[in-house]
Amino acid sequence: MYRDRTCGELRLTDAGTEAKIAGWVQRTRKMGGMTFVDVRDRYGITQVVFDQERNPELWEAANNLGREFVVQIKGRVEERASKNAKNPTGDIEIFADELKVLNRSKVPPFTIEENTDGGDDLRMKYRYLDLRRPNVRRNLELRHKMAFEIRRYLDSEGFLEIETPILVKSTPEGARDFVVPSRMNPGEFYALPQSPQLFKQLLMVSGYDRYFQIAKCFRDEDLRADRQPEFTQIDCEMSFVEQEDVIRMFEGLVKHIFKYVKGIDFTEPFPRMTWKDAMEKYGSDKPDIRFGMPFVELTDIAKGKGFGVVDDADLTVGICAPGCASYTRKQLDELTNFVKRPQVGAKGLIWVKFEPDGSIKSSVGKFYTEDELRAWGERMDAKPGDLLLIMTGEAMKTRKQLCELRLEMGNRLGLRDKNVFAPLWVIDFPLFEWDEETQRFYAMHHPFTSPNPEDIPMLRTDTGNVRATAYDIVVNGTELGGGSIRIHDAELQDEMFELLGFTPERAHEQFGFLMNAFQYGAPPHGGLALGFDRFVSILAGLDTIRDVIAFPKNNSGRDVMNESPSPIDTAQLDELQLELKPLKADKDK
Ligand code: AMO
Repeated sequence: MYRDRTCGELRLTDAGTEAKIAGWVQRTRKMGGMTFVDVRDRYGITQVVFDQERNPELWEAANNLGREFVVQIKGRVEERASKNAKNPTGDIEIFADELKVLNRSKVPPFTIEENTDGGDDLRMKYRYLDLRRPNVRRNLELRHKMAFEIRRYLDSEGFLEIETPILVKSTPEGARDFVVPSRMNPGEFYALPQSPQLFKQLLMVSGYDRYFQIAKCFRDEDLRADRQPEFTQIDCEMSFVEQEDVIRMFEGLVKHIFKYVKGIDFTEPFPRMTWKDAMEKYGSDKPDIRFGMPFVELTDIAKGKGFGVVDDADLTVGICAPGCASYTRKQLDELTNFVKRPQVGAKGLIWVKFEPDGSIKSSVGKFYTEDELRAWGERMDAKPGDLLLIMTGEAMKTRKQLCELRLEMGNRLGLRDKNVFAPLWVIDFPLFEWDEETQRFYAMHHPFTSPNPEDIPMLRTDTGNVRATAYDIVVNGTELGGGSIRIHDAELQDEMFELLGFTPERAHEQFGFLMNAFQYGAPPHGGLALGFDRFVSILAGLDTIRDVIAFPKNNSGRDVMNESPSPIDTAQLDELQLELKPLKADKDK
């Protein structure tokens, strides 16, 4: 037996007993004739004491221990003279009688402690060491705990977990596929699944009316803090359901997990907001409703006063930042620069200060009288001391830009508290999205999403305004999950493909298996997928999902630890009958 206790379990009640532990040397401190060694394992840290007087040889050996050496220690548990209340084992220490070095370690590239930070790249290159840090470990423990409880919950609701393939057919809709060449079928490729969408629909045709899977998904898209090229979904599908049934079921799951992990009771139903309202009030389909500052439109009262940018704009819209009239010139310039950053892309920012003494200062005083500005303030419910921040331009763009500014103001005013959770459902998404570049409609969600039955007559006459039976669940400005009721009628599906610009041949080539299956009795069905990495990171209060993934990729999609992606051998290429074109960068030389 290497150990009979972990490094996290000894307490005062164990004093006087013998214990054998094994773990990594976190640090050693030599104080006169005593050497203290902190030994760490997954469960905690235990202090071990080596006393020169009791055992000089052992004391000498302890002084030669390096950081991260793997050791086994046997000794007597004793009450500590100076206790450490911060450490659960801080009441005791082990007086060592035996020390065995099980393995040595090179000096690690960074100190492995709670909040050490060797920089992101270094941490990721040595991720196996980073994973020894207790805060990273706690994230993975939370992930495990949540996965376990989600499985338990869905099992209790009659869901079956069914695995679906990882090598699938490449389909053109959605994000870019990762593709895998087939050696046995030269010139042909699999794709890695962006989600198990089609398979779960097929399972509904097969009668498995409550399916779920904690599923790996792969998307070749630009990465952000809440996006990884491979990520995990809690993917679910149900038969004989309407939108309300799906929402109720998964609201139940989300509430249960909040209660289980955080002890938070959401007693009221989650609020619901239509996509249109979300865009108009918050400029986003994933509004952060932990705080107010909703958009107020001023187009009608701002136009026609000789201020060119406003007069030419579709939309003039603003937010009222409470108590911010005290902002200095420098702070206002900072905000203007913030909206002008390429990531936001606005041309400028209009501000109006309602000073506590009743006077008004603004960046557009040349164009508007005080009375006109007062009318803006009235509409925006501005109080003395408030600051109006206003943007103007093409409607959708301006809303998105003002959304960025609203979030920035939320940050500056400390209104985006990580311990406050504000979930909501966003419903009534548009079914289609128009793409200027290719001059065609795309499915906003995916081509199997059912139109809102009320809007079916508009499919051809007012395509852009048809609402989908689709819903997203949003928490604190992050899209946690999304889903829809699916089309189960082959004729309606054909019509949908046609509207999306597929010829019947192409639709058949891409989705023939699903369309065939739908001819054999497809039940009404719908579902949703929650982003599991996002769920864990929201509950852990983290800014990026990378911290809840054991071996994540960096923002260029690279694993800097194993250095992938990487070239493959010519022999492998030959076997696949593949030849590489010269790389673009080489061609340009
Ligand atoms: P959707 O594409 O909305 O829906 O994905 C569902 C949820 O998965 C998470 N997610 C991601 N998480 C991390 N990195 C990514 N790159 C990433 N992309 C998506 C999000 C998102 O809300 N098949 C449908 C679901 C359905 O209709 O049932 C689907 O995949 O949290």
